Amino acid sequence: MRGQLSLRTTVGSVSLPNPVLTASGTSGHGAELAPYVDLSTLGAVTVKSLAATAWDGNPAPRVHETPAGMLNSVGLQGPGVQAWLERDLPALTERGARVVASIWGRRVEDFGRAAAMLVGAPGVIALEVNVSCPNLDDRSRMFAHSPHATGDAVAAAGLSGLPLWVKLSPNVPDLTEIAAAALHAGAEALVLVNTLLGMSIDPARRAYRLGSGPGGGGLSGPAIRPVAVRAVHDCRAAFPDAAIVGVGGVSRGVDAVEMMLAGADAVEVGTATFRDPRAPAKVLRGLARWCRWHGVDDVRTLVGAVHRSVDRTTTSDTAGPTADVWVGTAAAPGAAPASVAAEGRPAPPGTLHGGTPPPPPPPPRPPGAPGPLAGSAPPPRPAPPRPAPPPPERSQP
Ligand SMILES: Cc1cc2nc3c(=O)[nH]c(=O)nc-3n(C[C@H](O)[C@H](O)[C@H](O)COP(=O)(O)O)c2cc1C
Repeated sequence: MRGQLSLRTTVGSVSLPNPVLTASGTSGHGAELAPYVDLSTLGAVTVKSLAATAWDGNPAPRVHETPAGMLNSVGLQGPGVQAWLERDLPALTERGARVVASIWGRRVEDFGRAAAMLVGAPGVIALEVNVSCPNLDDRSRMFAHSPHATGDAVAAAGLSGLPLWVKLSPNVPDLTEIAAAALHAGAEALVLVNTLLGMSIDPARRAYRLGSGPGGGGLSGPAIRPVAVRAVHDCRAAFPDAAIVGVGGVSRGVDAVEMMLAGADAVEVGTATFRDPRAPAKVLRGLARWCRWHGVDDVRTLVGAVHRSVDRTTTSDTAGPTADVWVGTAAAPGAAPASVAAEGRPAPPGTLHGGTPPPPPPPPRPPGAPGPLAGSAPPPRPAPPRPAPPPPERSQP
């Protein structure tokens, strides 16, 4: 008889009831998602990045939908740590949420100030250091694009004594170099990845679409999932003992599985929440269902499994739908669930993304028998019986 499914995971020194978290900046500063999701049931809630003081962010428009994702140029608007502690954090702790506080700064000392203000904050289980922000002491080059600046920001935040996670940018030639600097400076988890640098121009107006103008925006959503999976994979290979949180385009349980197979101990759900504020809970349900369907009793056995896999080339997915179809208009968090998404339709059986498993391997050849290349083509194998398709995973109401 199969045992009970364990979804428990750990991110460094932090133990979580399950591996599905919200991503910073995509579900507000406080309990904005509470009308849609029981926040206590998620692994944790990661709040929008906070600076030591209030910050206005960029002019509107701040979001623009793109094929399979969105561009944003919110610009780290926030109330500052003190106001957040007084106005937003209580709503999260009252609901039993485990809180990951994300901080940012424009100078190394800003990270230290923000971190120090969070010491002893109730319900805060970890500090996520967002280094995808301009460093005023380095001609506004992003901290995340320099191993030294990343290490300095992480070390400054280390004053808090809280478990340190560092959120890295994928816009670098060698992510492992930046990750190494962050780990060396005291980070116990890598959060991979932040948005990709992007831009959109309106041909009719011959003008930038986002209010940040030539500053462009950050690309997120299903379009960047392969980039995030690759980042997680390569960092897991480089740092087998580091904790890793995968983020980028996760909108279904099977996406979380993919991230975990690449090496993530947990995942964060971001842009999917703009289409459906219930997305984090749906990803969690989808992950549990995938595990049950595939006989996985302990979700931790997925972590990094592709690195141990003998067959690294299998493309079939027996979990049902894998095709991403990103249709619809991004809505602000808290908006009524969008009904415009078309993701999650099962592909017809027998197609690449359908429910047909790969054929079984051929039987072993008797010693001395010629291989397929030695003689004529082997006789065709009888088609394997098709199992009943798994229940479809939906990411929309
Ligand atoms: C509107 C918006 C605001 C964001 N704000 C932040 C932020 O304040 N801090 C941060 O570390 N990441 C921020 N991000 C990046 C997300 O946390 C996440 O890393 C990225 O969007 C990729 O994940 P996704 O494809 O699931 O959205 C933001 C993303 C979006 C779309």
